Amino acid sequence: MSQTVEGAKDFMPINGTDYLEFYVSNAKQAAHYYKSAFGFKSLAYKGLETGSKELESYVVVQDKIRLVLTSPLKSGTEVGKHIDKHGDGVKVTALWVDDATYAYNEAIKRGATHYMKPVLEKDEFGTVVRSGIYSYGEVVHIFVERKNYNGVFLPGFTSWETPNYTPEDVGLKYVDHMVGNVALGQMNHWVKFYEEVMGFTQIMSFDDKDISTEFTALMSKVMSSGNGRIKFPINEPAPGLKKSQVDEYLEFYEGEGVQHIAVATDNIVKTVTELRNRGVEFLRVPDSYYDVLTDRVGKIDEDIEALRPLGILVDRDDEGYLLQIFTKTVQARPTMFFEIIQRKGATSFGKGNFKALFEALEREQELRGTL
Ligand code: FE2
Repeated sequence: MSQTVEGAKDFMPINGTDYLEFYVSNAKQAAHYYKSAFGFKSLAYKGLETGSKELESYVVVQDKIRLVLTSPLKSGTEVGKHIDKHGDGVKVTALWVDDATYAYNEAIKRGATHYMKPVLEKDEFGTVVRSGIYSYGEVVHIFVERKNYNGVFLPGFTSWETPNYTPEDVGLKYVDHMVGNVALGQMNHWVKFYEEVMGFTQIMSFDDKDISTEFTALMSKVMSSGNGRIKFPINEPAPGLKKSQVDEYLEFYEGEGVQHIAVATDNIVKTVTELRNRGVEFLRVPDSYYDVLTDRVGKIDEDIEALRPLGILVDRDDEGYLLQIFTKTVQARPTMFFEIIQRKGATSFGKGNFKALFEALEREQELRGTL
């Protein structure tokens, strides 16, 4: 993926997603869940044993995806307050850059809200510079400069090995995109933020006619970094007869935040089969979806009868097609979930599946009494 997205200023080139940090109420158990259910492996740890007196973090890895799961070790911490308000959720989207001081200075100069000034961290494996700015809600972007570092994760972390438990991976490769839910009327504000502060450009837009069912609607715009490696769709609710999934999120998360993280695989049938065998739950569309699938998307490499029992969805655009599926929400509150995606040329986000998907989501909302 090294295309240049037209219109992006790209004054702050981003090499990729460095890590995602979740604030969770029980990092130790969450780490085990991501290992046992999603096929991640143990990578690094920080806690009492490493001199971290307030916070404990477990880092798990699968190919290019690193998740940091952080919990407080005492009451009254910022992390604890975050969890009390939002439940478990994504706090940090860390972006890998060549110069974290430059990225911070450029972002602040262009109007970003400060989160963390550039800090040089070091240990026996070298140095890392990190800095940070606020995005929507309480989500932050941390810029990570690691060209002078060859340790396992970051200074302050020790290698975490669990030789007695290393589940097989499920074929997850990298973060394809990460979607934010923002409040009514705020989508364009955040589009402007990513344009002006980060040099991103808008590559796609969906209005409430694209994304609506009989009852609910939302709007979405997709922001991309210049090299296309970072894509942040931003959703806002649109008026509908009933409460939309974005409204439900905003109510239960008590604010704006990360709605879903899409992770790429190059064999979605194998990946989803593995995830299901390990207990991951997915949204289902009605079986009739598959009866008309070939009419809608034309011929595809995969056997539709292999997709049907797994509930994998297909969509086509001018450049090719994609296969995707969405998990149910993965924490106590009905907030964040994952998407598994396999791209076969398509660079879009599955617009042709929106209606069937949102009807599936409404059935979940109905069960929760939140529609
Ligand atoms: Fe998505």
